[in-house]
Amino acid sequence: FQPKSLAGRRVLLTAGPTSETIDPVRVLTNRSSGRMGYALARAAAEAGAHVTLVSGPTALPCPDGVERIAVRGAADMHAAVMARAGKADLFIAVAAVADWGIANPSDVKLKKQPGGQPPRLDFVQNPDILAEVAALPDGPWCVGFAAETDHLAEHAQAKRARKGVPVIVGNLAQDAMDTEDTELVIFDEAGAHPLARQSKLLAARQLIAWIAGHLPR
Ligand code: C5P
Repeated sequence: FQPKSLAGRRVLLTAGPTSETIDPVRVLTNRSSGRMGYALARAAAEAGAHVTLVSGPTALPCPDGVERIAVRGAADMHAAVMARAGKADLFIAVAAVADWGIANPSDVKLKKQPGGQPPRLDFVQNPDILAEVAALPDGPWCVGFAAETDHLAEHAQAKRARKGVPVIVGNLAQDAMDTEDTELVIFDEAGAHPLARQSKLLAARQLIAWIAGHLPR
């Protein structure tokens, strides 16, 4: 009998984009299908973990054996994560969280005025969910993601230091967006550990196996 690598572990993930309300019919969002986060949730469940997936709006079905909490904006995602982070052993932040929310959302649909001025939007900076979880005393072990367009290693290692997390998983945004395949690089204190280009599900299983081997007991 081979025990599953995350048996008895509680894993909390974020996935998908966030959707920041402008008015009842309009939002500001990020380009993210949620596929990588959902694949990781599935792989963690396969590895025997108790998995909670806090997800922004996506078209994806909830993986078997995963508890999904549906959220919209970064503020909702932040609240849902902070309410659960204390009980988690591992937090994997995959969501493409909008850096800015709308400070002045309208309760009614904004109307186009013929010949009139377009509306003005004011922004507020959203909380950095990963950095806040990483700063919790006795919080979970944290794995972040970094989608970059260039200088992957420098940006990922800088992000690892800035957010105070042991692991950042990097990928090139142009490779990973709207695709089935991905090429991940794991960055930790020892350096870079590249994984092969493969489907997001196979990459997720490899990453979960690597994490299970490094997760503190
Ligand atoms: O957006 P950024 O490149 O800083 O994202 C890096 C990591 O931080 C990702 O894992 C992302 O899910 C997480 N993050 C977060 N809250 C934010 C911004 C990013 O949890 N407000």
